[in-house]
Amino acid sequence: MTSTRPSSVVSHSETAEALRTENRAGVLVVTLDQPGDAVNKVDRTLGTALERVIEQVDRDRSVYAVVITSGKPDIFIAGADIDQFLQFKVEQDAENASRFGQRLLNLLERSRVPVVAAIHGACLGGGLELTLACHYRICTEHPKTVLALPEVQLGLIPGIGGTQRLPRLIGVRNALDMILTGKNIRAKKALQMGLVDEMVHPAILLEIATRRATELADRSLKPKRGGRGLAGVALDGNPLGRAVVYRKARVGVLEKTHGHYPAPLAAIEVVKYGLSHGMEKGLNEEARVFGRMALTPESRELVFLFFATTALKKDMGVPEPAPTPKTVEKVAVLGAGFMGAGITSVAVQHETLVRLKDTDMAHVGKGLAAVREVLKERLDRKQITRQQFEDMMVLAGGTTQYTGFGNVDLVIEAVFEDIAVKHNVLQVVEQLIPGDAVIASNTSTIPIAAIAKGLQRRDRVLGMHFFSPVHKMPLLEVTVTPQTARDATVTAVSYGRKLGKTVIVVNDGPGFYTTRILSAYMNEAGRMLDEGVQIDTLDEALLGFGFPVGPITLMDEVGLDVGGKVGAVMAESFGKRMMPGEGVRRVVESGRTGRKGRSGFYRYDEDGKKGGVDPTAYDLIHGGDRRAVPSGALGPVVGIDTSEIVDRCVLAMVNEAIQCLEEGILRSPRDGDVGAVFGLGFPPFRGGPFRYVDTTGADEILGRLDTLDGRFPERFKPAALLVEMARSHKRFYPAEGRPV
Ligand code: NAI
Repeated sequence: MTSTRPSSVVSHSETAEALRTENRAGVLVVTLDQPGDAVNKVDRTLGTALERVIEQVDRDRSVYAVVITSGKPDIFIAGADIDQFLQFKVEQDAENASRFGQRLLNLLERSRVPVVAAIHGACLGGGLELTLACHYRICTEHPKTVLALPEVQLGLIPGIGGTQRLPRLIGVRNALDMILTGKNIRAKKALQMGLVDEMVHPAILLEIATRRATELADRSLKPKRGGRGLAGVALDGNPLGRAVVYRKARVGVLEKTHGHYPAPLAAIEVVKYGLSHGMEKGLNEEARVFGRMALTPESRELVFLFFATTALKKDMGVPEPAPTPKTVEKVAVLGAGFMGAGITSVAVQHETLVRLKDTDMAHVGKGLAAVREVLKERLDRKQITRQQFEDMMVLAGGTTQYTGFGNVDLVIEAVFEDIAVKHNVLQVVEQLIPGDAVIASNTSTIPIAAIAKGLQRRDRVLGMHFFSPVHKMPLLEVTVTPQTARDATVTAVSYGRKLGKTVIVVNDGPGFYTTRILSAYMNEAGRMLDEGVQIDTLDEALLGFGFPVGPITLMDEVGLDVGGKVGAVMAESFGKRMMPGEGVRRVVESGRTGRKGRSGFYRYDEDGKKGGVDPTAYDLIHGGDRRAVPSGALGPVVGIDTSEIVDRCVLAMVNEAIQCLEEGILRSPRDGDVGAVFGLGFPPFRGGPFRYVDTTGADEILGRLDTLDGRFPERFKPAALLVEMARSHKRFYPAEGRPV
């Protein structure tokens, strides 16, 4: 076996801006390091630079092996440069880009000398595809090292050989799992799957990579292949087994996407085609389908959401120049209920010391147990170590007194949705906490100004509206009043981001943005119940539009008691436009609470698993009268077709969203779209309510609203801003180029 050759620098050249090369005694170390960016991205500059390296290697006989690594801390390659996707005007443009990359990686794969990928940090999308064309892959054993093909999340398929090389390397089942979910694979798992050949400590990555490159060159090392496990081999090895895998994958995708996303289905077909027709034809098909997917409306909307969330990460929610946010190290959470415990579980995962306060030890204990459950799930899934689990639990301290409040940076109130209770606790708390601490309420409905009114330090008060379950839902809605101090806003925004949330900042009003538009949507569904529409018909119609759950199931999920309180506040604030349905009101008054109480519009088993519609709910809805009593409509309603159900719910929501923009509750359509998609499950492939108006056309939406307004006065009066936009043929976003 050849030992490592001395790593003296023989030559050093600036091959191109995107990378550096260094010939270490015959092993050419290529360090990817695109200037002016914190990450490496697959784009034309990187491609061209790599092409030159490959040509150089072919000419330069002093090079007998290549190592590709990254010069960025904790990033190998973050994926493709998404900006370039906007330049694709026709399918052929995207197809050409795919072919350019494929040709390059084919050259790399067929290089005269062995190429080793030395991976530390995120290795995503095109970055992973690049390493698949290398002859040996080493990654570091490090939490930041993750490998993934997240293209489907942008409505695409891997476009530079990923659909072909991955199944050949790790088997169809594992490859489809990665391609169809885009999920991150950590180092250890990558090694088990055979996605990488070796895993090493970061300190010796380059040394080992260089050694392996040398060993591959002198043939003392032959990479082992086929780390797909027994079941994988049995299934993948024969066409019948593969047919089962494809069929299962298709069923899985359809179950999850309800057929709304073309990319995952297309990816299955491309993998299948390539494995039965060979690599060359497979690559050809991959490029063609990549081109087709890149121009689908679904991909355009997902790319828009990518830009929107990226832009939000830089937005502190106050006019520039923004003050420096205060570091939040210690938080007091008031109320150890469902939300208080949820917030605590996320806070302790981000090194925050939490004082969790409730009225008695039983509630505190229940809250801490809920925190433990969330962390335990992470431990069971091996996402955290036992040590981390214990360290996190230590950060959560329960109390029934206000002990330990003297040095908190932030208070998050999550007591009952009752302004008197909120005032009671916050009036005590504001006397105890430091003068510059931020006072946040997690209320979902009550105007923040009304909460601030009962307090002395009104400039410290804002809303931090988390969504349930807190550890899963990605959105945080920060609500500010005209009195909220700028430094309080930026502190809440920056802390929310630290917790991993996508943060939108909105102005104050009943229900802020998200609860307000959700109420409009839910109320309309409730009215259709009154009119005699079946519970599951309503839910299925909205699932068909692309919501993850239907509105009636959502009522059960949120909790009918919670929904009832929200409904009352909204009705009080907005009058007839926001009046909940009569039937829903009766179900709430009956004491049913939805899934948590195992009784709502649907049946639930002891574990809270949803069954079918509960027929007795109809007795409550129709006040004991099983003949559906039409109400609300001007004329009798005889059956409502799916498109009307969808229009009534969705347009009520869209119109309310536009009104929020018009009134200045929303600062931008972008915030409105991100809030609806990430907080309420508005279908991502539709981009959000404002994108929906743009793609459908403001005049078309206005026309439909006008018709509904004629039938149901006071509920669908089109927002003035929409009328104006339809008249002047305006859009919320530019038709061309970067949307935000
Ligand atoms: P919950 O009923 O589960 O928890 C409330 C907790 O506050 C209870 O443990 C109660 O004992 C405690 N509490 C009451 N008075 C207290 C006091 N004076 N001092 C300390 N603790 C006290 O309610 P949940 O669902 O957690 O809601 C809390 C807040 O979060 C409400 O304002 C609600 O509107 C809001 N919210 C709820 C969401 C949900 O999906 N449940 C979503 C977003 C916000």
